[in-house]
Amino acid sequence: MDKLTVDISNIYEFVSSKQVFAYKDELMHNQELLEEKTGKGNDFLGWLNLPSSTPNEELNAINAIATDLRSKSEIVVVVGIGGSYLGAKAAIEALGNSFANILPKRENPIVLFAGHNICEDYHKDLLDLLDGYSYSIIVISKSGTTTEPALAFRLLKQHLEKKVGKAEASQRIVAITDKSKGALRKLADQEGYRTFIISDDIGGRYSVLTAVGLLPIAIAGFNIYDLIDGAKEAEKNTGIDIRFDENPACIYAAARNALYRKGKNVEIMVNYTPKLHYLTEWWKQLYGESEGKENKGIFPAGVDFTSDLHSMGQYIQEGERIIFETVLSVVSPLKTLTIPNDPANLDQLNFLSGKRYSEVNRMAEQGTILAHIDGGVPSIKIVIPELSPYWLGYTMYFFERACALSGYTLNVNPFDQPGVEEYKKNMFALLGKPGFEEKGKELRRRLGEF
Ligand code: PA5
Repeated sequence: MDKLTVDISNIYEFVSSKQVFAYKDELMHNQELLEEKTGKGNDFLGWLNLPSSTPNEELNAINAIATDLRSKSEIVVVVGIGGSYLGAKAAIEALGNSFANILPKRENPIVLFAGHNICEDYHKDLLDLLDGYSYSIIVISKSGTTTEPALAFRLLKQHLEKKVGKAEASQRIVAITDKSKGALRKLADQEGYRTFIISDDIGGRYSVLTAVGLLPIAIAGFNIYDLIDGAKEAEKNTGIDIRFDENPACIYAAARNALYRKGKNVEIMVNYTPKLHYLTEWWKQLYGESEGKENKGIFPAGVDFTSDLHSMGQYIQEGERIIFETVLSVVSPLKTLTIPNDPANLDQLNFLSGKRYSEVNRMAEQGTILAHIDGGVPSIKIVIPELSPYWLGYTMYFFERACALSGYTLNVNPFDQPGVEEYKKNMFALLGKPGFEEKGKELRRRLGEF
């Protein structure tokens, strides 16, 4: 199998193929809006041809810095939030050994993340841990002004400088940010950090195939050339020249919009491997921030099966019928494990002896899909050949393209996130930031403090 496929045969009890194919003209038009850069947010389309336009020299430069940081670090801390963190986290989890961080013999540094929350315990635990290890920092912020990573970087920079001295610290810190704007750019220039630029026309959640994702992924030991090759193939296979019914991005966008129109307001991304937990988190950000605006948009949720069949499974089977699911179905595991025979057979599972673990998982997947259809939950299946860098790059580009197409179908700008500013204003006002005094008083009154 050399393609990612989108199987929508299990939604036809809920929407007709006519209702799905009714989106054909609109989606082909949306393809034109993307290609001709005439749709909403058209100054944020740098991701569209990124795979085919990334020169090998760029990948070589990323790999060279990755090699350098790998040689001097037991741990690399990636500081960032949202699109400046989730893509790398998703890829490293999807491609790596499930226990990579506690393997006694490691070829690669441990990649940890910071600045994706403001939790005091998390960051204190991290600093205490780093006391005992040699480490480097990659700080990522497109705007260079986001509070969470800026706070974490402030802590980590001071910690590292104290540990190895200012000169050595500046060799161990790499910044990924805007070419000229923002506090991080200023600091990086001032301190002489090595930097990579996030291009103006690529938004955070569409940036995984830039240095934002690629540098941490390379540090974790994965082949970024293969990742980009896969994305390049996806760029070809989801492009405007591909027929609607052969284009996985169009089919996915059409199916989810047809279901949305039928009142299926929640899309649950389902995986059957914990390695995909963070791919779901990345997808949730991509789709949630891109589509959830103007009081519209499918709510993106996620579950890890079979674990969550023992929690959320009940709701999915019998709760409010506002759900459809999208199953990430990985064809081949990378490893082999068969179920042993047990002469005592107290658990009465000897009928499974000799079977692959993955076969049991596959039957769980198939059985669950059928149960969900019977329970009123339409099921889209995205079939991914395997969790390799190539197929992950392919999958991520596919989701980006489908998201843009789907967002245009909702007639929203899939590349902005105006709603994200609201909590920040309130947080700053409550913290007494100069300029926010009046807002601060109003919020305190509402909180009952006056
Ligand atoms: O998708 C987006 O643009 C956002 O989620 C950003 O990635 C996130 O807010 C982090 O922004 P920045 O990289 O500017 O710190």
